[in-house]
Amino acid sequence: TWEELPLAPPDSIFKLTAAYKVDTFPKKVNLGVGAYRDDNNKPWVLPVVRKAEQILANDQALDHEYLPITGLPEYTTGAARLILGPDSPALKEGRVVSVQTISGTGANHLAALFLSRFYYHGAPKQVYLSDPTWANHHAILKNVGIEPISYSYYDPKTVSLDFDGMTNSLKNAPPRSVFLLHACAHNPTGIDPTQEQWKVIADIAIEKNHYAFFDCAYQGFASGDLDRDAQAVRYFVERGVPMLVCQSFAKNAGLYGERVGALHVITPTEPAADRVKSQLSVLQRSEISNPPSHGARIVSLILNDAGLFEEWKRDIRTMAGRIIDMRKELHLLLTEELKTPGNWDHIINQIGMFSFTGISAEQSKILTENAHVYLTTNGRISMAGLNSKNIRYFAESLDKVVRG
Ligand code: LMR
Repeated sequence: TWEELPLAPPDSIFKLTAAYKVDTFPKKVNLGVGAYRDDNNKPWVLPVVRKAEQILANDQALDHEYLPITGLPEYTTGAARLILGPDSPALKEGRVVSVQTISGTGANHLAALFLSRFYYHGAPKQVYLSDPTWANHHAILKNVGIEPISYSYYDPKTVSLDFDGMTNSLKNAPPRSVFLLHACAHNPTGIDPTQEQWKVIADIAIEKNHYAFFDCAYQGFASGDLDRDAQAVRYFVERGVPMLVCQSFAKNAGLYGERVGALHVITPTEPAADRVKSQLSVLQRSEISNPPSHGARIVSLILNDAGLFEEWKRDIRTMAGRIIDMRKELHLLLTEELKTPGNWDHIINQIGMFSFTGISAEQSKILTENAHVYLTTNGRISMAGLNSKNIRYFAESLDKVVRG
């Protein structure tokens, strides 16, 4: 019986959504989960997604048969082109294995499962994670018997990248270590390495024969430009760093609930790719048999039609642009108007969906309890939860908490 089963705590991110929903305070603000909201605090179905859904609804040839085990082929090839670039040498040489997954989480899981089976050859099963990282990374690795190890990433004193700490971690790790790297818009800090810093990271990775495990959940969200946000990934491919990429369309296509993702493993040769694909197929079959079709069909239409693709880029700029506006406004309110003690430049320097405010766990809790502002206790705020109507209330609440 289950009476002695330990009671597990609720999920640190989704418990905030639940608490926010039942809160009756009129000025409540949800800055927890990373999900885009429009200026009216409403979920936003991208116009291009609506259009693609119309096309699908009218397509009498579509049925509900199983997809192939590795997913919808025109989706996975389109997704690979999107992240690796249309001119990717690895794609041209047939060295990329792409598998459709249950969004980014599923991609991370399948990647971790694959590595746990085939990468370590008796070496300790470990993956290095940035300190901090998305909390789910830890759980996903542990589920497949991989021990998460932290590498230095964030410097709380400067609220910026601890690049020396990061490079030291890379240098001091045993050869062939696996490093999970956020491709862009680091979650939770919103702090990415510069291009120059990525070069140094790749240099060390090559020197030490490390494996790069890229997680790319926010392509387009960092800069508003899909290609620019893929630069680190493409650069690593170009340099020949052994690597894989986990990809999600939850955020950049607003398809959160449809679970559309992919895992791309970049291999040295075409025969190696064939072998990797065969093993990934076996793993996928036992886990989910075959992935769901609806979201993949939507993304496939968008990726493979030049007109829809342009419309998607416009929609991404709308989302990224609104978030950048919120950063500027919050920064202005804190620094110019409220004159909140401390330096708040990181709000405009950080990129992507999140801002790491630098406030303590205690201050985060007070914000939630006293002001009904929901955020993770690490001080991360989802910028997409701010809008022209609630930003002043949030700034004033933050100001109060900082003043103590
Ligand atoms: C987040 O970090 O808020 C998002 O990635 C959503 C999630 O699944 O946790």
